Amino acid sequence: MEIRRRNPSILSLLLLSLFAIASAKVFFEERFNDGWEERWVISDWKKDENLAGEWNYTSGKWNGDPDDKGIQTSEDYRFYAISAKFPEFSNKDETLVFQFSVKHEQKLDCGGGYMKLLSGEVDQKKFGGDTSYSIMFGPDICGYSTKKVHAILNYNETNHLIKKDVPCETDQLTHVYTLIIRPDATYTILIDNNEKQSGSLYSDWDLLPPKKIKDPEAKKPEDWDDKEYIPDPEDKKPEGYDDIPKEITDPDAKKPEDWDDEEDGEWTAPTIPNPEYKGPWKPKKIKNPNYKGKWKAPMIDNPDFKDDPDIYVYPNLKYVGIELWQVKSGTLFDNILVCDDPEYAKQLAEETWAKSKDAEKAAFEEVEKKKEEEDFKDDPDLDDEDEDDGDDDDDSEADTDADVDANAEADSKHDELFCGREETVLKAENFVMHNLIIILTAFRCQSLELCSAVS
Ligand SMILES: *[C@@H]1O[C@H](CO)[C@@H](O)[C@H](O)[C@H]1NC(C)=O
Ligand SMILES: *[C@@H]1O[C@H](CO)[C@@H](O)[C@H](O)[C@H]1NC(C)=O
Repeated sequence: MEIRRRNPSILSLLLLSLFAIASAKVFFEERFNDGWEERWVISDWKKDENLAGEWNYTSGKWNGDPDDKGIQTSEDYRFYAISAKFPEFSNKDETLVFQFSVKHEQKLDCGGGYMKLLSGEVDQKKFGGDTSYSIMFGPDICGYSTKKVHAILNYNETNHLIKKDVPCETDQLTHVYTLIIRPDATYTILIDNNEKQSGSLYSDWDLLPPKKIKDPEAKKPEDWDDKEYIPDPEDKKPEGYDDIPKEITDPDAKKPEDWDDEEDGEWTAPTIPNPEYKGPWKPKKIKNPNYKGKWKAPMIDNPDFKDDPDIYVYPNLKYVGIELWQVKSGTLFDNILVCDDPEYAKQLAEETWAKSKDAEKAAFEEVEKKKEEEDFKDDPDLDDEDEDDGDDDDDSEADTDADVDANAEADSKHDELFCGREETVLKAENFVMHNLIIILTAFRCQSLELCSAVS
């Protein structure tokens, strides 16, 4: 087994303890510099159906460093599958760190941003949704209901979803996702070096059968009193209670003037419900003094539970892969890392994401601002309005957030007034889109083989 040991820069040596860096084992690190294409294999999966999407090698429409490129999905309604091999290793007795950055430049409404670790022998040219994997990790967004970080662990040839909810980032900027699995069977999930979830593999996934179960042999004792309320033995039926009739003759009824006993028969007053009648007598209910609470079967050790001290072990990890279905493309992956040292991973995130995140945010805001201005140019009416504001001494300051908001509001008012017909068309389009997304989601769900597990 060959493991690459990186030579840390002097600066990082200063920043970090010497020991942590020198001892980090890096199994795979991909910053998508020159030569990345030789390390990655694009799968033929879905190619014959013309549904395999193209990857774009780019730093994206906005970034903190135009030279820092990654790979981005570039076609809508496509499947993507790409993988890279590293020297096989086992994480037994070692910490496993899986980390990468992902940016959804599209306003993602349905698509994954997760990655996989695969084991054993995989035909990379055939890598796809059906290829079994060891770990799947990363953000997944679909509609309003799914906005989460997947952490799926394969154990005993079954995929197990994490039982805790871990919300993912939903904006259009780069974020770093980190999964750490330790030999004591604990884990931590971080986003942008901040801990979002942690716990035990035993409790947060159903990898093993439960340790304790309800004793199936146990029976409720005969004398177990589980009635919380009982009829009051002191309460007695009032005398004459049963003599109260259910109905009485209507005291207000009068024989009609024109009633003819000979022709109409003898007149009888109609009956009405008796307001005095309260139904059959029941004694009051009181708290049962002998109430013991609801009976519960005692918990016993589950005979089917066999502890597995290697529950966290993946003995032959060998590939990292991206396998996605995307309705809207634009997801950019970068800085992929598989190592044994959380400190090293943290440092990598600092050197990459943290260093350029502010510049990236500024670039993004610049793009958004330009977009607003473009919308503006197409709308001369609103330009006039803007000039009427009289704020013409400093053009560069004209586009404060407040202005942009006001413009957006004016824009939407304008739309309401003048574009009623377009709106109807838009609504119809949205309706079609919505249904398309539902169909495509089902499709994607199928490809993920998550349906049964998720639903
Ligand atoms: C790749 O990304 C760049 C930057 O966003 C973009 O200008 C270019 O059109 C993209 N190319 C393809 C083939 O999508
Ligand atoms: C592994 O899975 C099989 C088939 O589902 C099951 O019979 C067996 O008990 C499982 N073993 C463990 C250790 O969970």
